[in-house]
Amino acid sequence: SFGHRSTKPICIIGAGCAGLYSAMILESLKIPYVILEAQDRYGGHVFTHRFNGADGKKAPIGDPARYDYFDVGAMRFPHIPFMTRVFDLFQKRLNLDEKGLLIEYHMDAQRGPTDPDPTFAHFNGRRFCEAAPDHSSKADVYAVSKTNGGAVDDELVQRGSSKIFSELVVKPFMAECTKEDSADEKFRKIWKALVRQDKHSIRSYLLNQPPFSLVEGGPKYDWTVSIVEWLETFESATGLFDQALVESIMDALDFDAPAATIHGPLAHISANEDDGKEPYSWYCIDGGSDHIVEAMVEQLPEARRPRLNCRVTKIESIAGEIQVTYRDGLHTVETFSQVICAIPLGSLQSIDFPNLDDLSYMKRLSIRSLQYDTSTKVALKFKKRWWQDPEIMGGPDRIIRGGVSSTDLPIRKVVYPSFGLDVKDVPGVLIASYSWSQDAQRIGGLAAPENHTQLLELVKKNLAQLHGITEGKMGDVVAFKIFNWHNEPHSRGAFPLFRPSQFTKTDDAQSMFASLKTPGAGGKLHFAGEATSVHHAWILGALNSAWRAVWNALQLREDAEELRRQLQTEWGVPDEEDVKLLRELLAAQRKMPHRF
Ligand code: PHE
Repeated sequence: SFGHRSTKPICIIGAGCAGLYSAMILESLKIPYVILEAQDRYGGHVFTHRFNGADGKKAPIGDPARYDYFDVGAMRFPHIPFMTRVFDLFQKRLNLDEKGLLIEYHMDAQRGPTDPDPTFAHFNGRRFCEAAPDHSSKADVYAVSKTNGGAVDDELVQRGSSKIFSELVVKPFMAECTKEDSADEKFRKIWKALVRQDKHSIRSYLLNQPPFSLVEGGPKYDWTVSIVEWLETFESATGLFDQALVESIMDALDFDAPAATIHGPLAHISANEDDGKEPYSWYCIDGGSDHIVEAMVEQLPEARRPRLNCRVTKIESIAGEIQVTYRDGLHTVETFSQVICAIPLGSLQSIDFPNLDDLSYMKRLSIRSLQYDTSTKVALKFKKRWWQDPEIMGGPDRIIRGGVSSTDLPIRKVVYPSFGLDVKDVPGVLIASYSWSQDAQRIGGLAAPENHTQLLELVKKNLAQLHGITEGKMGDVVAFKIFNWHNEPHSRGAFPLFRPSQFTKTDDAQSMFASLKTPGAGGKLHFAGEATSVHHAWILGALNSAWRAVWNALQLREDAEELRRQLQTEWGVPDEEDVKLLRELLAAQRKMPHRF
């Protein structure tokens, strides 16, 4: 069946970033396609909630009505070498910066133009504002040291959790890179070192490391459970250290990498460098991230834009083509040359693949068991942005303009808007809680309407504790929204975050990860979406996966080589891909399909 060539369009399932980017690439290669989307909106995990609905979407930059929103999904974009492809999309293909939509995202509560300012923190029952942002205060304000009744060696607490984590845990994986390496080379070297440890969670990895010292010849410390729990508390989310080591290190690299100067095939975008402006390290979208996906859809000819409310229920290869059944009010059956499935694995698992040859054992296993993490956001709308008001906050040096506050209270993280900062009478929308893992399951457990009173009580109380002001001073909550991505029928998970060993190739079969990177149904069924990229929980993963799905889909065409050359020239090659390896993988699969 590998030889059969159908002239029918390719069916893209899912109009999130992976599906839309696949469509943009196919469009540039002049290959016809159809996009089926189950929901009544496109964008997937790029999703903006506006308390004032369509009015806010229409409001121009600077109009207070525009800022009555929060980004439920993707909300911040680090401008680092890894993310070159994302900024190539934003700047070069969608012109978001020319439209004034690409603005700075503040990682800290920037009061002045230059100095990083701390937000608030509240751990172990103790609130702190003026603390250094890396919690390295010698005073041990959270009383986690042994001397102060906690469980961690005093010297380590003094050094600070963020320094210990980055110097002792993350840095060793970067040791194999040199300054001269290109971003892609760096990534490949780090990745190689990481997958060697893939059997480990970060917890098991650390507990098996030899004792360490902070200075050469200094006292030695064992890696203890107390140290691991302390690092998890301050640097991650509850329980996240049980997921793959690979994931935590990748996460740290994304968050802590220096801002990008970009070399290589996508260098043309290098952030604002030609106009002499300093590139910011993080960006967000003025007016909501859904402007990204809207701009992507606008790139497609009208007849090829996503068909909404079409939920696929069955995929089956029949006579060398792929038959897709979907609910669109009716029960429609349509036949395509190939299919690119760009939906989360939680939704994919519900689709019926009745033909046993379409999905191997490894693929069915991967779709079911590759781990997704939970994430919950709770946004409250107050009458005004009290956190930007010096009277309420106790002086101009205590106000907050963007940034994130952290706590071990149930809300875990507060994300202040970086947009509309100087807009008069701007609505007071705050992400009062952003959480992952067990933290997200717990606060997400209050998502049902009958628990909303309890939820609001808890969130308001936590906000007051964290900021050291009364609930009265914050004013009334006029609206709110809780969103747990595990509760969403079209997602059933927030983002992939694999367990140990899920990236690893076993002796006698490919890894679960590799099995989903290769096609099913005799080369005609492709899986895209961030779960099939190494860059989980970032738009980059969706884009890279789409590129690879299209590259693989070209295999069955007579003009494959020409089109692949065009693909590589126009769209580069993702850092995680190597064309030679992709060829080898497809060849190996043809020889031994059952191993994939
Ligand atoms: N990219 C998301 C964020 O900025 C989520 C994320 C989760 C990133 C886990 C890395 C690790 O918050």
